[in-house]
Amino acid sequence: MTRYARITGTGSCLPPRRLTNADMVSLLAQRGVETSDDWIVERTGIRARHFVADGVFASDLALQASRQALDAAGLPASDIDLIIVATSTPDMVFPSTATILQHKLGIAGCPAFDVQAVCSGFIYALTVADAMIRAGSASNALVVGAEIFSRLLDFNDRTTCVLFGDGAGAVVLRASDTPGILATDIHADGKHTGILCVPGHVSGGQVLGDPLLKMDGQAVFKLAVGVLEDTARAVLQKAGRTTEDIDWLIPHQANIRIMQGTARKLKLGMDKVVVTVDQHGNTSAASIPLALDHGVRQGQIRRGDTLLLEGVGGGFTWGSALLDF
Ligand code: UT7
Repeated sequence: MTRYARITGTGSCLPPRRLTNADMVSLLAQRGVETSDDWIVERTGIRARHFVADGVFASDLALQASRQALDAAGLPASDIDLIIVATSTPDMVFPSTATILQHKLGIAGCPAFDVQAVCSGFIYALTVADAMIRAGSASNALVVGAEIFSRLLDFNDRTTCVLFGDGAGAVVLRASDTPGILATDIHADGKHTGILCVPGHVSGGQVLGDPLLKMDGQAVFKLAVGVLEDTARAVLQKAGRTTEDIDWLIPHQANIRIMQGTARKLKLGMDKVVVTVDQHGNTSAASIPLALDHGVRQGQIRRGDTLLLEGVGGGFTWGSALLDF
């Protein structure tokens, strides 16, 4: 009997502090930096984002999202036998946010580790969990994307600081004899490190280099649109499906124009795309599981639907997962 990995529950968490574009306009004006609601909406589709309060860490958001996903799956935390957290904003340099989350969930013993693939992190984490479940090394995995990008933002750089937000999303992935994840497809090309990075690092008790996010938006935009189409077609081919089989496209939520471009190339109407970028901004590795949970809780996504999840981000990394929900 073929062994598959199936999503049996989803959850998410957004910190309560919500900043609209008007709030960002005032925040930036205090620094003499000019932006506008019109520019942000027109160029990105973003209207609001959530920022954490001081003292809140990625594991706190991950914990709330995980508890919701476990509730939805009807699974006690003690049954989890694998935890993977996708994050670029871990609580600490080490140990991993996954081990901190494990302890906060009140469990011990199962493997727990982080995956660092920036905005593609959730797709990478799902790919690893799927492979481990199919290989028989795990049966009940918790896969989380959790990010606090607000702490990496340079509020003097209007080209980046209006784009990102904080949040977490989680799924429970269980072994099953019915699919499940049909295929995954992940890639990286390290020559593009410089177009999206946080170059700082810890050394000798200090942060050396700039610890704030840098992005060449146009270069990222151009690469993103190309690789997102490629990976979508590749994952469909691996699964022996076509674009017509897709009920919902759940893309990384960075920019509505990238999502529209991808949908157009795949000949999918925007009515088949889950969009949360307007309310969440870009939450990096959290954006896909946040959008998935949003779609499920809004009643858009139903059991049996075929979902195409896809992400792209720093590294450069990109990838996709095709699944029957
Ligand atoms: O999560 C990982 C993946 N990340 C992405 O996918 C992001 C990809 N890139 C993008 O989404 C877009 O490139 C941005 C939203 C970052 C920028 O949009 P754009 O249409 O590429 O704008 P641009 O960088 O070409 O800038 C156009 C103008 C510039 O002014 P000039 O030089 O034409 O006078 C900018 O200075 O817009 C100006 N500008 C702003 N104006 C008001 C840039 N940021 C702002 C701002 N408010 N916040």
